[in-house]
Order: sequence, then structure tokens, then C-alpha cells
Amino acid sequence: MNFDKNFKARINTAKDVTILTGAGVSAESGIATFRDPDGLWSKFNPAELASIDGFLANTELVWSWYRHRVSIIENTSPNPGHYAIAEIQKLIKSFNLITQNVDRLHQRAGSENVIELHGNIVNNHCFDCGDIFEGNTSLLNNILPKCVSCGGRIRPDVVWFGEMLPQQAIKKAEIAAIKADIFFIVGTSSEVYPAANLPIIAKQNGAFVVEVNPKQTAISNYMDYCIRETSAVAFPQILEFIKTTL
Ligand code: OAD
Repeated sequence: MNFDKNFKARINTAKDVTILTGAGVSAESGIATFRDPDGLWSKFNPAELASIDGFLANTELVWSWYRHRVSIIENTSPNPGHYAIAEIQKLIKSFNLITQNVDRLHQRAGSENVIELHGNIVNNHCFDCGDIFEGNTSLLNNILPKCVSCGGRIRPDVVWFGEMLPQQAIKKAEIAAIKADIFFIVGTSSEVYPAANLPIIAKQNGAFVVEVNPKQTAISNYMDYCIRETSAVAFPQILEFIKTTL
């Protein structure tokens, strides 16, 4: 891949790199995105499956959907994009990885200190008392999992439509955006806020902003550089280029 000369110059001098990822990063692992033509929201109703109202109206339906998604995620693996991003972290002293994904594939590829903006599908918590249940506990074998502390309804530890993001995560993400010399935005349609605001914060604070996405998105016109490739193709090459600059 022939990278743009401004991009190469900025990589050469970058001291602080942030990468923000979305569902597209996991597409090459076989996990469906949300808004592509064959995406989850073209087949399923987010109001029924990813909102508190939906959970309260039909808890069993929401759980059967999440169990299905967990089984897909458990039976897949990180792809070369995830692995290359984890390698880049090892090479850059000041590095942040922010993700909107709940699949934990970045962590399985070796990324550390991942800032999860939308929670994750591995943990659950009690809707009523807030107790956290980490990992795939036997509680989840029940069709309607109940909290051992209060008997309340357990729900996936993800952020649903209309809910606030975890405050610590969004704060860390904003700081990372402010500090970054280069800010990559990868595999996201940039239609969901506040995540979509992070590259704007980064650019306003002097970062060179780069989109990695095979398609044009809501934020493409704001970018300094667009790499029109998939994540699993682009990131191994970005990694190789970074190695030549060290
Ligand atoms: P979307 O489904 O909205 O966007 C996926 C993006 O990935 C699109 O722009 C695709 O062009 C791009 N894409 C597809 N394959 C790719 C590949 N192999 N490499 C790189 N890019 C690729 O997913 P998100 O933007 O992540 O939130 O969605 C944001 C949030 O909306 C999700 O976290 C979820 C959803 O509703 C919640 O559930 C709260």
C-alpha cells in the first residue's frame, strides 16, 4: 500500500497515538456490523433488543439474542487487524485504544488497557442492585438469570440506546483524543455519539486524523487522510511502516 506522504511524515514524528474502533474491525472475524446492508440493525429492531424498555418488555427475547451473539463471539478469533493494533501498542510509548465493540476481541489479540465505551458482552450486571457478574457464570444457564444478591434481573453489561456511557471510559477517551498526535478511526460509521465526537476533539487539539474504512462515512470529509481498505488489510501494513520509523 502506498501511504500518503503527509501521513508518513506525521507517523515519523508521532509521540502519541490513539485508535478508535467500531464493528468493522471485527467484520473479518465473522461478526456482523450494525449498519452495513447485511448488518444487525437491518434484521433486528434495536428498540426491542438494545434498550431498557425492550429488556423490560421481553427479557427472554433480549437474553436469547445476547446468548446467540455470545456464542458467535466465543467461536470466532481476532483477525490480523486486531493483532496488528495490539503490536502497534507495544511499539508506541504513549498509546490508547478506544473501542465501541463489546466483543473483547482486542483483548484476546493482546491489547491492554482497552477503553470500552459501550461495555462488553462478557460481563453482566443486576438491573436492580447493580452487582457485577464477571464472565460466563452458571447463573446465565437460566432462561431468565436472577441476581444472587437481590433476586433482581441480570442484564448484559453493555450500553443500550438511551443510556449514559460509563463516565470513566468516556473521560479517558476524551483525554486520549486531546493528547493524540495521530488519531485513527477504524471500522465505524461515526453515526453514534459521543464516540463520533472523539476524532473532532482530536483534530481540534492538533491531531492528524485518519480514517480506515472501505467506505465513505459521516465523518470522512473531516479527515486528514482516508485509507480505503479493510482493517485486517490496512493495519498489518501500518504496523510494518511504523517499524521502519523506529
Ligand atoms: P456500524 O455498523 O454503524 O459501522 C460499521 C462500519 O464498519 C461501516 O462504516 C463499514 O463501512 C465499516 N466496515 C465494514 N467492514 C469493515 C472492515 N473489514 N474494516 C474496516 N471497516 C469496515 O458500526 P459502529 O460504527 O461500530 O452500539 O456502530 C456504533 C454503535 O452502534 C455500536 O457500538 C452499537 C451500535 O448500535 C450499541 O449497541 C450501543
